[in-house]
Amino acid sequence: MDNLRIQGGARLEGTVRISGAKNAALPILCAALLADGDHRFRNVPQLRDVRTMAKLLRHLGLDASQDGNVVDVVSRRIPEPVAPYELVKQMRASVLVLGPLVARYGRASVSLPGGCAIGARPIDQHLKGLEAMGAEVELKHGYVHVEVPAGRLKGAEIVLDMPTVTGTENLLSAAVLAQGRTTLVNAAREPEIEELARVLNKMGADVEGAGTDVITVQGVESLQPVDHAIIPDRIEAGTYMAAAAATRGNVLLEGVTFEHLEAVAAKMRHAGVAVEREGDGIRVAAEGELRATDITTAPHPGFPTDMQAQFMVLMCTATGQSRITETIFENRFMHVPELNRMGAEIDVDGRTATVKGVESMEGAQVMATDLRASASLVIAGLVAHGTTDVLRVYHIDRGYERIEEKFAALGATIERVPGHA
Ligand code: EPU
Repeated sequence: MDNLRIQGGARLEGTVRISGAKNAALPILCAALLADGDHRFRNVPQLRDVRTMAKLLRHLGLDASQDGNVVDVVSRRIPEPVAPYELVKQMRASVLVLGPLVARYGRASVSLPGGCAIGARPIDQHLKGLEAMGAEVELKHGYVHVEVPAGRLKGAEIVLDMPTVTGTENLLSAAVLAQGRTTLVNAAREPEIEELARVLNKMGADVEGAGTDVITVQGVESLQPVDHAIIPDRIEAGTYMAAAAATRGNVLLEGVTFEHLEAVAAKMRHAGVAVEREGDGIRVAAEGELRATDITTAPHPGFPTDMQAQFMVLMCTATGQSRITETIFENRFMHVPELNRMGAEIDVDGRTATVKGVESMEGAQVMATDLRASASLVIAGLVAHGTTDVLRVYHIDRGYERIEEKFAALGATIERVPGHA
């Protein structure tokens, strides 16, 4: 497995173009299962997770190929709506085929994703919603088997216990072909949900309220294929914002939707970072001392859990003590011991990490077991004195397109070292 080797100390300066959003692309690719014909998706990031999703679609019987940032999917009726363990274990988001498959075929079997490095991550809300729409659910041999005795899902009112992102996406994709009206209450409000609804509506669906906590869907008989360009990745953007600020740099992020990053921008401004809209982008600049700033992760429009680790590194460079509280996932502080090995001073007590700003950090060999934690270690490496080797870049390649090229273009000394375990 490749490593990333970083010589820390450079201020990041220049311009970086933000890629398409991984977490928007994944459910949208699955939506191709809902309508036969030729779909074209543009601005799709070249990432391991996207490749895994394309593999899953091909396994199901569709054609799916990526050329640069364009993914073409040729959709047709598939023989067996089954997502096997071999693919689901590579990526939890494979569960996003469940809603479209049940909507289209009245049945599906999907390997249960199980827990992962950041928490238990059950899918009970996805299943509860499908049951409310008339599906029968059975868990057997590690698979969830869903069957709709009536053949077609029926619209229902579904109240989610928590605003789950992929759960909302699965139920939304299921409801578009159901008979009658579905209301999703306490729906997730993330921009990726709005984007999925936009695509479904382009395909001929009738979805209202996406981006709010009540989404209504009037089911239709059939949908058409779509040509669509994916929104920018707000978490990739936030990661470059944190890196720019932590290195006291000055970076213009191009092709970003500012409204998707309000919570992150507000916290950075509180810390003393200049965050300004510029054209279709955001300029982030910082110098001198930054102020310790507390954050608590929350569903959108709150501070995203996917930015918690990167913001924590920024707080390691601030003056004073900040408290970082994680409310979404129970095990999302794996970066803390690694950051402490680099000279950070972070204590974790339950869901809250207390971060004391330090004068400097030192390079080390570090490793993390999830995507955003790994990204935080890259930022720490950019800040630290000396050499940092971030092992298992595998995780970063799941979610950051050409990360070493983008940081190098901003003046960082960073290279991919192939082939280490
Ligand atoms: N939850 C349940 N039951 C359910 C569904 C969720 O208890 O049926 C709980 C989860 O265990 C968690 C909370 O609800 O504690 C929220 O989880 P959610 O379902 O919203 O997370 P997700 O849909 O599995 C997506 C992103 C994650 C991101 C979270 C939170 C995708 C493909 N993944 O996951 O992204 O952290 O929302 O915003 O959209 C990443 O990109 O690195 C990543 C992990």
